[in-house]
Order: sequence, then structure tokens, then C-alpha cells
Amino acid sequence: MLSWDDEAASAPAARPPMPVNASEAAPEAAVAKRVHADDKRIINGKTDVNQLVPFKYKWAWDKYLAGCANHWMPQEVNMQRDIELWKNPNGLTDDERRLVKRNLGFFVTADSLAANNIVLGTYRHITAPECRQYLLRQAFEEAIHTHAYQYIVESLGLDEAEIFNAYNEVKSIRDKDEFLIPFINTLTDPAFTTGTIENDQKLLKSLIVFACLMEGLFFYVGFTQILALGRQNKMMGAAEQYQYILRDESMHCNFGIDLINTIKMENPLLWTAAFKDEIKQLFLKAVDLEYAYAEDTMPRGVLGLNATMFKGYLRFIANRRAQQIGLDALFAQEENPFPWMSEMIDLKKERNFFETRVTEYQTGGALNWE
Ligand SMILES: [Fe+2]
Ligand SMILES: [Fe+2]
Repeated sequence: MLSWDDEAASAPAARPPMPVNASEAAPEAAVAKRVHADDKRIINGKTDVNQLVPFKYKWAWDKYLAGCANHWMPQEVNMQRDIELWKNPNGLTDDERRLVKRNLGFFVTADSLAANNIVLGTYRHITAPECRQYLLRQAFEEAIHTHAYQYIVESLGLDEAEIFNAYNEVKSIRDKDEFLIPFINTLTDPAFTTGTIENDQKLLKSLIVFACLMEGLFFYVGFTQILALGRQNKMMGAAEQYQYILRDESMHCNFGIDLINTIKMENPLLWTAAFKDEIKQLFLKAVDLEYAYAEDTMPRGVLGLNATMFKGYLRFIANRRAQQIGLDALFAQEENPFPWMSEMIDLKKERNFFETRVTEYQTGGALNWE
């Protein structure tokens, strides 16, 4: 039970372990213990999760502030030109229409999976309140992304049942989600708790799959496709929304990587050779799945893109994600085959990209596709 008594609040720190959840609050007789930043831990922490400060993980708080500064809503984006183009029988080729529908078919449910993973899973297992604060912001951003995809589907008058069921009915999409779901189930299982090496490794593995392979890899064929349309002055409204989403996802991925690396640092026993090998195999599998999705969405060349180009791109991104969490590159000397994507999302300078967009959005400037 929380005490509002001034005397208790100012009592000297006796430092018994503090509860992780408010429901497990200390008995009334216990002396209220003040939080020391040094005692905080990302997982298995014993400090009071209800006290945001003193900060220990300032990077998480900074990302929370940056996420809030980036706030946007889908209906702020004008979809009129997209609607006219979509309704014009000569506006888009059949391959471009297939690409848009398969693209939305993945994303309309992907961000609901992401939101459920955070709210029902990750959040419960993270004991640093500044990281929880970011996760709350991230969860809302996932809701905005689902809203954005729904808004595009509605604007274009697409068959909702076809698009929202694509993750059941389109093999290349279902295969990606079936890869992800066991890792989401681990975290959302009400019986799952951390505190053993085995379970802490399960948590870390799920965090890696989610940040590096879902948000950091599985989104990139789709982002590239719609941004490529935008570069050709097609589906400009959808492309603008995807650019805002890309900016958010870039931050989610970077937060996840900071989270993973801090857990590794605080729990070095988890990062064994066998564990690293298991992660490497997951990366290889994810690259294969995303490449199959690229082939399915682009059976022929479209927009100057073809599936083969994505083989190199996905390897380039996978190398980057592996290195970001301290693994060796998985593929030899992969270069980015889409330098224009590099300028737009710049994997090497995600922070710079992000900061540029923050300024533009806050001043109400439209995104520029020149
Ligand atoms: Fe998202
Ligand atoms: Fe995300």
C-alpha cells in the first residue's frame, strides 16, 4: 500500500527490496525506501516501477520525448490525389495495384501484432519505468499506424475483408507472421516470468526478433515499395503516411536495440555462444521470409524495383541489425542497392533523418518527394 505520510516519505533509506508491481506493495510496517538510480535494472529489477525518477536510462526518456515531438495523425494527410489515381483505370498498372494491396495486407495486421506484443507482453517484463514510459508511447504509435493503414484502405475503397484477412490467406504474409507469433506468445503468456537464465534468454530472443527482425527488417520491403511510388508522384498521400510511420519505426527499432544491448550489459551470462548462434539462424530465416514476400509482391519488375534487388538490400539491413546488437555481419560485403532509400531513411544516419523530420513536422512543413 502506498503511504502518503510525510514522516514515512522522508524516512532514511533502509533499502529493503521494493515491489515491482503496485499490487505487491510492501506491508504497512515496512519503511518506505527511496529509489536509487544505481539500483534500477531493465529486467528483474527490484526498485519501485511507479517512480519514473531518478533517471538511470536517459536514452529511453529522450526517445519518449522525441516520439511525443513527432506526434501525427493519419487524417491530417490529404488522400484526394491517391483516390483519383486509384479510381482512374489507367492510373496504375496491375502490378502496382497488386503491390499496394499485398503491402497493405501485411501492414494492416502487423501493427496490431506489434501493439499486442508491447501491451500484453514486453511491458510486463521491463522493470525500468523510463523504458515503460517509452513503451506506452510506442504502443500508441502502433495504434496510429494501424489507423493509418485502415485510413488508406478506406480512402481507396479497397475490400476490407480481403486486406485484413491477407495474413490468413496470402502465404508470403502468413509465413512472416507465423515466424513472429511464437516469440510474441512467449512474452504474452500470463504464466511466463523472467528470473532464470533460460527465461531471460527467451525474453531477450523475443525482443531481438521483434526489434531487429520485425520492425527492423520485415517492414523494409513494404516501406521501400510505397516510398518508391511516392518518388514517382503516385500514391503521394499513402507515401507521406508511410514516411511518418518509417520515422516512428526507426525510433522503435533503435529503442529496442538500446534495450537489448543494456540487458546484455546488465546480464552478460545470457549472451552465450549457443545463444548467439540461435539468433544468427533466426536472422537468416527472417531474410529468407522477407525475400519470399518481395518475390510475391513483385513477381515482375515494377517501379524500377525487382525482387532480386531486395536480396542485396535485405542482406545489407540484416548485417546492420546484427552489428547493432554486437553480432558479426552475416553476409559478405553487402552494399545498399537503393541509395535513394538511404537518403530518405538513411540507415547509417537514422538519428539525423529523424531530427530533420521532427523540425519539419513541428513547423507544419509538407514532406518533399523531389
Ligand atoms: Fe508500427
Ligand atoms: Fe513499431
